[in-house]
Amino acid sequence: MNERKKVIVTERVDEKCIELLQEKVDVDVKFNLPRQELLKIIESYDGLVIRSSTKVNKELLSKAKKLKVVGRAGNGIDNIDIDEATKKGVVVANTPDSNTISACELTIGLLLATARNISQANSYLKSGKWDRKRFIGSELYGKTLGIVGLGRIGGLVAARMAAFDMNIIAYDPYIADDRFKRFRAEKKETLEELLKESDFITLHTPKTTETIGMIGEEAINQMKPGARIVNVARGGIIDEKSLLKGLNSGKVVSAGLDVHEEEPANNNPLFEIQNTVVTPHIGASTVEAQENVGTTIAKQVLSALEGEVVPNA
Ligand code: MLT
Repeated sequence: MNERKKVIVTERVDEKCIELLQEKVDVDVKFNLPRQELLKIIESYDGLVIRSSTKVNKELLSKAKKLKVVGRAGNGIDNIDIDEATKKGVVVANTPDSNTISACELTIGLLLATARNISQANSYLKSGKWDRKRFIGSELYGKTLGIVGLGRIGGLVAARMAAFDMNIIAYDPYIADDRFKRFRAEKKETLEELLKESDFITLHTPKTTETIGMIGEEAINQMKPGARIVNVARGGIIDEKSLLKGLNSGKVVSAGLDVHEEEPANNNPLFEIQNTVVTPHIGASTVEAQENVGTTIAKQVLSALEGEVVPNA
């Protein structure tokens, strides 16, 4: 009889994921495992299930002698060295469609929160102070929303924000014109054009060498005075020092940030100023998304371990 394969899960995933895996393989659930510990034990596993914190780099892959598959319970794969995994014959599976609605809805929440000072007003009132003048915001109606990246999540945001009667413009050099038409988004040929025209900017690109620091000092200078920006994509796409400067000068009126250059993020100066609304990378943190992601990734990992083709991003 064949020996049961072994999978390690290093980050919190839905219970259904673990249950599905356990039907076919032995599963070790080890959240918050110190890195050195993971490097020591990874050699005995055939599969690894992660989210965004576990770095699957050259060092880890060199020690993972038996590893056949890395299952990324989520969309972004910037924490995995794909080239190295491919060289070693390790399949990388992710779940690009399973949490897009949740990420889109958080984006809309942050757009509204940054426009209407919801979070600041909440804290102020709960601290015992009543002041209606202090929290004058801006309507979304009739404003221009600039979407950077019109992929899965960007498209969902475009479709929904059209119902707010926003004027939707988008920049994405990697997609066909048809998609702009489908989402009734006016295509911008350059990021600069988008930044110059947007009242609200929302980012929906992966984190790549091309997008790291994409919203830096130069980009902020190109924005409309009083622009607002939301990032539910990846930390590092916005250069935080430049954003802080922009927010302090008033060039950027407010920012809604779910993702951060350093995560976990604690002593981030952007958390100390009034005109940011920040959340701890919770774009996919809904019951529905976690269930979808968990079941999808479990099936993908099991398929890979059985030598089947794994549909991927
Ligand atoms: C994603 O890339 O889909 C998210 O980062 C998922 C997560 O929260 O781990």
